[in-house]
Amino acid sequence: MRHLLTVADLGVEEIEGLFDLTDKLKREVEDGIKHPILAGKTLGMIFQKSSTRTRVSFETGTFQLGGHALFLSSNDIQLGRGETVSDTAKTLSRYVDGIMIRTYDHSDVEELAEAGSIPVINGLTDLLHPCQILADLYTIQEKKGNLKGKKLTYIGDGNNIANSLLLGTTKVGMDITICTPAGYEPDSEIIKEAKTQAEMSGSQVEILDDPVVAVEGADAIYTDTWASMGDEAEKAERLKAFEGFQVTTELMNKAKDDVIFLHCLPAYRGQEMTAEVIDGPQSVVFDEAENRMHIQKAIMVKLMEENSQNMQESNE
Ligand code: CP
Ligand code: NVA
Repeated sequence: MRHLLTVADLGVEEIEGLFDLTDKLKREVEDGIKHPILAGKTLGMIFQKSSTRTRVSFETGTFQLGGHALFLSSNDIQLGRGETVSDTAKTLSRYVDGIMIRTYDHSDVEELAEAGSIPVINGLTDLLHPCQILADLYTIQEKKGNLKGKKLTYIGDGNNIANSLLLGTTKVGMDITICTPAGYEPDSEIIKEAKTQAEMSGSQVEILDDPVVAVEGADAIYTDTWASMGDEAEKAERLKAFEGFQVTTELMNKAKDDVIFLHCLPAYRGQEMTAEVIDGPQSVVFDEAENRMHIQKAIMVKLMEENSQNMQESNE
């Protein structure tokens, strides 16, 4: 693992290794044990879109690891004035030890990784959100004990979250049902890739348009905003298209008795789910948000620490 651009890049053992390291780091924080594994290292964080969780969890996580994180809003760096992604990557590679980027076009993240010489972490693109999905899987494992054979149902927009859930769940052997209105299905190439992964891990992929059928037997129900960052102009049209796709208590009651509710946040009560669901006892959304920090610390340790070890070995 050199970069984290998509969950599909990770092997099952790598995901298990990340989860073990996350457990260790999380316990150490809870027990007040310091772990300055990235002392002297700097993470550059490029943001072309808004963020609460990603920014704060990466910045705090880097600090807890003894490193330093730089918030680089695209409004303030030359990337926002037309400097190329490639020149940005080459320049930052001379200063920092890793880059986290949140942007629109997934190909920009690929180009950054290609042109630079340091690890790149995808902090969300229009296509994918791998850090979120690793935190989600880790949270489901915490709540349910294991992942293999469990069923996750995602209801709503076939967006970056749905795409990454398809790749993450099928990698670890979870069944996934995605339920969207017609025209809002996930990326067709990603559905194909997920089906290939599902054949290897022995799991199932279903793409449906009926929420009642979709939640049958679900261990976890997940939803996300109906208008992602970049979709603002379509908001009114989308609110109409997604009528009937709200996660309600009635819908939750049709899944398994011990079903949990997940949402990457930010959430819009009264749209993709009712307040009763997200603020109710089955909701684990703030555990998910907390776990973003723990899993990202493990990702940074794996990428930035191992990259500097490899560089040292190649210089010797
Ligand atoms: N879930 C998530 O990525 O949240 P932010 O947009 O607040 O970073
Ligand atoms: N799908 C949402 C996720 C936010 C974390 C968006 O892209 O805006």
